[in-house]
Amino acid sequence: MRCLLQIVGRHVIPSEASSASLKLQMARPLNAFALALLMISLGCRQDMQDQPRFKPLRESDFYADLRSARPPVEGTVARGQLHEDAYFYSGRIGNNPGDYMPFPVTQNVLVRGQERYNIHCAPCHSRLGEGNGMIVQRGFRHPPSFHTDRLRKAPLGYFFDVMTNGFGAMPDYASQIAPDDRWRIVAYIRALQLSQAATMADVPEGQNVPSAPPRFREPGSGATLPEIEPPSNKIEERK
Ligand code: HEC
Repeated sequence: MRCLLQIVGRHVIPSEASSASLKLQMARPLNAFALALLMISLGCRQDMQDQPRFKPLRESDFYADLRSARPPVEGTVARGQLHEDAYFYSGRIGNNPGDYMPFPVTQNVLVRGQERYNIHCAPCHSRLGEGNGMIVQRGFRHPPSFHTDRLRKAPLGYFFDVMTNGFGAMPDYASQIAPDDRWRIVAYIRALQLSQAATMADVPEGQNVPSAPPRFREPGSGATLPEIEPPSNKIEERK
C-alpha cells in the first residue's frame, strides 16, 4: 500500500504542480485511479534483493559516526551469556570463594569429573593429585599437592576460581572446560582429597582394606584357570 501511494504521489501530484491543462486536471482522479488499478494489476512489489539496505560495514552519512553498522544497545546480552547465576560462573560470593556445589553431586557428576580431571589436570597434578604429573617430570614447575592441609580445607569455589582464572604459573582453563565441567572437576578433586586422607573409620563395614588376597579353591595348572573361593562377608580381625 505504501508503495502504491508513493507511486501515485510521485506521478500524479507533480502533474498538478506543473499546471497541466485543465482537462488533465479534471481527469486527475480518474488518472490516479487508473494508475492505481494498473499498478495493482501489474503487481506492485519490491523484491528482497532490491530492498534499501546497507552492505555490511558500508559507510553511511545518516549517523554521526558515519557507520551504517550500529553497536548493540548498551547492556545487550548475547543468547546463552546472561550468566545470571554469578556463583555458578565464578565460584565466588562477593570477593570470597564459596564452599558449596551449585548442583547435587551424583555418581555421574564424579565419573565425568574424574574423566575431565584425568584429561586436563592430571598431566601436571597427576592422577592422584600429588603434583607429579608427566609434564612436571619433564621440567614444568611442580604444583602443590592437593593433599596438603591448606588445599584440603580450601573451599570448593577456590578450585573453580583457579581453573577459571589460572594461578601463578598455571594457565586458566576457562576456554577449554565449560563451567559445569569445571564444577564436576571440583567435586572430583574433593573426592580425591577424601580418598587420599581416608582412615579405617571411613571403610564401609564388611570390607577389608587392603582387600585380602583371593583364596583359591583350585590353584589352576597353567592350562586351567584357577578357581577362586567366593568372598565371604565376614569381617576379619584386623591387627
Ligand atoms: C600445565 C600444568 C598444569 C595443569 C594442566 C594444571 N595445573 Fe594446576 N597448577 C599448576 C602449577 C605449576 C601450579 C602452581 C602455580 C604456582 O604456584 O605458580 C598449579 C596450582 C594449582 C592449584 C593450587 C593453587 C594454590 O592455592 O596453591 C590448584 C587448585 C590447581 N592448580 C588446580 C588445577 C586444576 C583443577 C587443573 C585442571 C583443570 C589444573 N590445575 C591443571 C600446573 C598445572
